[in-house]
This record gives sequence, C-alpha cells and structure tokens, in this order.
Amino acid sequence: MAAERLFESFAAHHDSAELLDALATGVVLLDAGLHVLHANMAAQGFMAIGLNQARGKSFTELFADTNGLQGLLTRALEHGEAFSEFELSLRPAGTPREPQLVDLSITRVDAASGQKRLLLEMIDSVPRTRLNRDNELRARLDSSRMMTRQLAHEVKNPLGGLRGAAQLLARQLPDPSLREYTDVIIAEADRLTALVDTMSHSARPSQKERLNIHEVCEHVYRLTVAEADRGVSVERDYDPSVPEGRFDRNQLVQALLNLSRNALQAVGSGGRVVLRTRAVSQVHIGLVRHRLAARIEVLDDGPGVPDAIRSSLFFPLVTARPNGTGLGLAVSQQLVNRNGGVIEFESEPGRTVFRLLLPLETSP
Ligand SMILES: Nc1ncnc2c1ncn2[C@@H]1O[C@H](COP(=O)(O)OP(=O)(O)O)[C@@H](O)[C@H]1O
Ligand SMILES: [Mg+2]
Repeated sequence: MAAERLFESFAAHHDSAELLDALATGVVLLDAGLHVLHANMAAQGFMAIGLNQARGKSFTELFADTNGLQGLLTRALEHGEAFSEFELSLRPAGTPREPQLVDLSITRVDAASGQKRLLLEMIDSVPRTRLNRDNELRARLDSSRMMTRQLAHEVKNPLGGLRGAAQLLARQLPDPSLREYTDVIIAEADRLTALVDTMSHSARPSQKERLNIHEVCEHVYRLTVAEADRGVSVERDYDPSVPEGRFDRNQLVQALLNLSRNALQAVGSGGRVVLRTRAVSQVHIGLVRHRLAARIEVLDDGPGVPDAIRSSLFFPLVTARPNGTGLGLAVSQQLVNRNGGVIEFESEPGRTVFRLLLPLETSP
C-alpha cells in the first residue's frame, strides 16, 4: 500500500515528510493503540499541537469534544474498512479555540510487520459546505425567479385592464370628487405593476450613483417614524466612518423600507426598531471576499421570525401574516443582489436582525 510505504520512509527520507507537510490536507498515522506516530503540518494545525508533543499521545485525547471519534477509529481498526465522516466537530484540548468542522477519512493500513495502523486525512469542511449551500440556494432562487416571471406575466395583463377601466370610469363620473376612488385604483395598479416589474426581469436596470448610505438611511428613517405606531421607538445608530459607495438609491430605499416595515409589523404597538450602520472589513458576500463593506441592519425586539418559514423566508409568496403578500423580502433580496450585496438575518424572540451587506471595494 502506497500510503504505508510513504510513512515507513519518513524516518529515512526527509523529503517525503516535507512533501506531506506541503499538503493542505491533514495527515496522521496512528498505531493500533490510537497513539500518534506521525502528523504532517496541516494535521498539527487541526490538533493545535506540534509533532514532538503529539508523538506517542493518544489521538482522541488531543481533542476536547471528540464527538464519537473513539468509536469511529476503533471501528476502522477492527473491521479494516475505510470510511469518511463529514463535518465532525473537533476542538483541540487545552485551547480556547472554537470547535472546527472537519471532514475525516480513515483508512486502515497494515504495516509489513503485521501491525495495524490507521491513516487519517483531515480537511476543513467549511469551504465545501459553503459552496454546496450557495449552489443549492442559487438553484432554488433560479427556479423561484422563473416562477415569478410567469406569475408577473399573468398578473400584469389584468392590471393593465384594471387601470384602463378605472381611467375610463374617471372620465364618466358625474361628480369629480368621486375621482378620489378611481385615483386609488390607478395608483394601486401602478404600484403593483412596479412591484411585479421589480420581481421579474423586465425591471429597469440599476442606476448606480455615488452615494452616502446614511442619506438613504435617513430617508427610510423618516418614513419609518411616520408609519410607526405611537408606542414604538424608532432609533438610529450610525457609523459615520462608512465611506460612500456606488448604488441605486431607489433600490436601496425600497429594500430597506421593506425591512423596516416588517420590523414595525413585528413589534406591534410597543417596542423598538433600530437602524444601524457599520463599516466592516473582510466580509464574504456570496463566495467573494470584500476588503470593505457597508453593513446596514434593521433590528427589532419583536417575537422573531416564525420557525416554519425561516428556511424559505426570501422566496416570493412566503408569508406568515394574514394580509401579507410574501413579496417584501424576496424583492428586497433581489434589489440588494443587483447592487452586489446580500441580505442575511438572525432571529430569536426579542431580537431580530435583518442585515444588509453592500460591497464598497472589491478585492481582486
Ligand atoms: N422583523 C421580522 N420579525 C418577525 N418576522 C418577520 C420579520 N420580517 C419578516 N418576517 C416574517 O417574514 C414573512 C415574510 O415577509 P415579507 O417577505 O416582507 O412578506 P409579508 O410582509 O408580505 O408577509 C412575514 O410574513 C413575517 O412572518
Ligand atoms: Mg413585508
């Protein structure tokens, strides 16, 4: 077996140890008692311990939360089967480190002397899970966008008819004061058409301009204060150091307004809504890491997003409110996406945050 030979040659040939050290995969060789015989550099990183200290130590004792590791290793040793365990949570013992998610492959290699050994390969699970999650999300969003486009098409025609009929009616009305009603019909038909346009791809392209996000936030703040019930406090917490960026002003206003309206609806007649901004560095937006981004948060102390809709929150037509359209968050996400950003959320009873991340500078 190649792996075995590679390890056998460790002591004699310095080169192969160096080669192993160059790997990003952690490689560990254990004896039949599960003691460390060798570990390459990457593995020393996972174990948070150098080779000299690790040698001869029990592998499982190097970790605080072993999460069934012992059982896996014993199984591999006894049955000689090779297997992989994904997203095993491991925390090196004696360090304050967070547990790390590791994909672990275990192979039994039997030495020439007949002694059983285990070869472990360890890689960080996070990049893989993030890729999978992003791909899955993208596929789901693609199919929901297609549905939305069809729906938009179906909705727009009758809206046009409705608007035309209201205009004709307005002209025939004996009393001009009755036009107030036809005006409502026309205005609402226009609003729905604009909404549907936003959802479908026929929406106008973004018109990006240099702007200070606080100007956008102030506008949304004023509208939110005006719409809030008396008992609700609407607050601002701005980071004045956030630099200007290039965004479509109207799209950002609409996106944020949808979030602040949801927050107002969530807190009901009492409670607190906060608009918060921060400049943040080194953040991932999708798979791209940005050196600098603007973070705009809408926080509320309402009851939180209902569990049943958490995983589908940003899809169109997902709502938990009797009169909801379920379009608000889907529209907001799409508008923010068009500006290169993303909306994330965190929610528990008493604290819900919708977080908008907008790139200010793209690293190459
Ligand atoms: N801040 C919030 N707190 C609690 N639930 C929220 C919040 N924002 C959104 N939601 C939930 O997400 C659902 C979808 O929101 P949205 O897409 O804006 O559609 P709609 O407001 O028409 O229901 C809402 O019905 C609500 O249940
Ligand atoms: Mg809404």
